Amino acid sequence: MAQKRGLDLKRVVLLGRTLDEYRLFFGLNLDDLRGTAILDVAAGVSSFTAEMRALGFDMTAFDRIYSASADAIRARCEPDLDEITRDIADKKAYKWDFYKSAAGMREFRARAYKRFLEDFTQHREHYVEGELPRTPFRDRQFDLTLASYLLFVYEDQFSYEFHRDSLVN
Ligand SMILES: C[S@@+](CC[C@H](N)C(=O)[O-])C[C@H]1O[C@@H](n2cnc3c(N)ncnc32)[C@H](O)[C@@H]1O
Repeated sequence: MAQKRGLDLKRVVLLGRTLDEYRLFFGLNLDDLRGTAILDVAAGVSSFTAEMRALGFDMTAFDRIYSASADAIRARCEPDLDEITRDIADKKAYKWDFYKSAAGMREFRARAYKRFLEDFTQHREHYVEGELPRTPFRDRQFDLTLASYLLFVYEDQFSYEFHRDSLVN
């Protein structure tokens, strides 16, 4: 059997990315998004919603962890970050042009979850709890829906039907 060269994720980890990272990997042009309603699905502890809201965008974040308190979420962030930073450092599959090193990546992730926690504590109304494959939103409620690092990343843990229904619902 082929050995996985990247991380072998046995569970969904609580890692968040920043606006800069979302902008780069989704190829977002923020000028084009002015006046649109944006949903970040499985947004977790990403600071995308917090940073976009600070820039005046209409943002909603959706994740199953939003039923937990900020303290309970905070308690999971550092251990998950430590584990991934340690595990990723010796993997050959990753290019480090952007983060430079595992420690550099850790800085991005720590910045993201701290920024998220500030906004989550102060503006809980923008963070909707729920669990894919269902969402509580209306058809066409959002102009743009993003899902980063859940779908197609954990395909050994989530079935084809889960992926299909998450996209359709
Ligand atoms: C690796 S994190 C990605 C967070 C963020 N999208 C990012 O890229 O920075 C995966 C997220 O998916 C969430 N998640 C896992 N299963 C879910 C489900 N069935 N419905 C909603 N969220 C889920 C987890 O709680 C976690 O916050």
